[in-house]
Amino acid sequence: GKGEYDHYMLKEIYEQPTSLAQAIEGRVDSDSGEINLEDFPPGTFDDVDRVQFVACGTSYHAALYGSLALNQAGIQSQALLANEYSVSAPPVDENTLVIAVTQSGETADTLSALRQAQDEGAQTVTVTNVVGSTAARVADESLLIRAGPEIGVAATKTFSSQAVMLTLLGQRISADVSGDPAFDLESVLADLENLPEQFETVLAGSSAAEIAHQYEDSRSYFFIGRGLGFPVALEGALKFKEITYEHAEGFASGELKHGPLALVTPDTPVFAVFTGTEDEKTLKNAEEAQTRGAPVIAVCPDGHPATQVADAHLEIPDADSELAGLLANVQLQLVSYHAAELLDRPIDKPRNLAKSVTVE
Ligand code: F6R
Repeated sequence: GKGEYDHYMLKEIYEQPTSLAQAIEGRVDSDSGEINLEDFPPGTFDDVDRVQFVACGTSYHAALYGSLALNQAGIQSQALLANEYSVSAPPVDENTLVIAVTQSGETADTLSALRQAQDEGAQTVTVTNVVGSTAARVADESLLIRAGPEIGVAATKTFSSQAVMLTLLGQRISADVSGDPAFDLESVLADLENLPEQFETVLAGSSAAEIAHQYEDSRSYFFIGRGLGFPVALEGALKFKEITYEHAEGFASGELKHGPLALVTPDTPVFAVFTGTEDEKTLKNAEEAQTRGAPVIAVCPDGHPATQVADAHLEIPDADSELAGLLANVQLQLVSYHAAELLDRPIDKPRNLAKSVTVE
């Protein structure tokens, strides 16, 4: 049951320190700098030269996160919307690894992209939360995120676990493909081991409820980020619109000035996600919105330059740029939750939505 929580969504947001610890348990050893991914020992991806991720919704945002991390490591990789795959898939061959990211393992769009990639000769992997799901059975191999059952229709804890498992899988892929781990492996692994505790810190000290209240009468809610902050901005906006029924949109920070700025007024708060990647540019983009009257809410560590400029602050602990976005995402999950609560929405079961979308 929901226990002490009013909604499953809140319970699942608060479960993240545990679900993340479960995801990495036995899989990460920062002392030896080793990763143990069961069916994916070193060398598994020796003959891979390109990676495609296919997914929908929140899982697509996690896929984008994983794909950007691989790109930063010099691996050719793309995140693709599964529902666009049949009309726009780039070519694949036996050296292409196609990774289906799906919490339920039953999303029709994702299954159909996975099957298409397989028919065309790609190697396939599913990253899923459900043992024995269709996606797990269809793909050559699967990797479990071990987040435990998610009851709330809005995906929360499964997003963070997907992103973490894709980061780990990305390390294995890039080590196999290029001979180098994607990042300084020992430091990433140490950061991953600290992540559950950092999630705890965010959850214990979040001012998201006050921020949600402060901006509750706004017209539209914008979320911006760059690099790994971009998928977090997209996810922040998706969660917000899903459970509050208010208009929300996520942008790459640099895109704001290419059109969306026309929408910016004092009634459009801008949540700016800072992950340590070109933060000065994102800050400038946020200031451009602020000049047009929009309140800026900076999601960043204490003492960050953005806190000098922003109208409000959602604090995250200091973390490497590979993981900072996931901490920012927790704050955004909480803002959405509290905004939906103020509006008295049926948070666990938003209208028109189903937990698992089994039609194309
Ligand atoms: C959003 C949400 C959906 C799912 C999407 C894919 O909160 O839950 O966008 O992420 O329908 O579902 P899975 O991951 O089961 O393939």
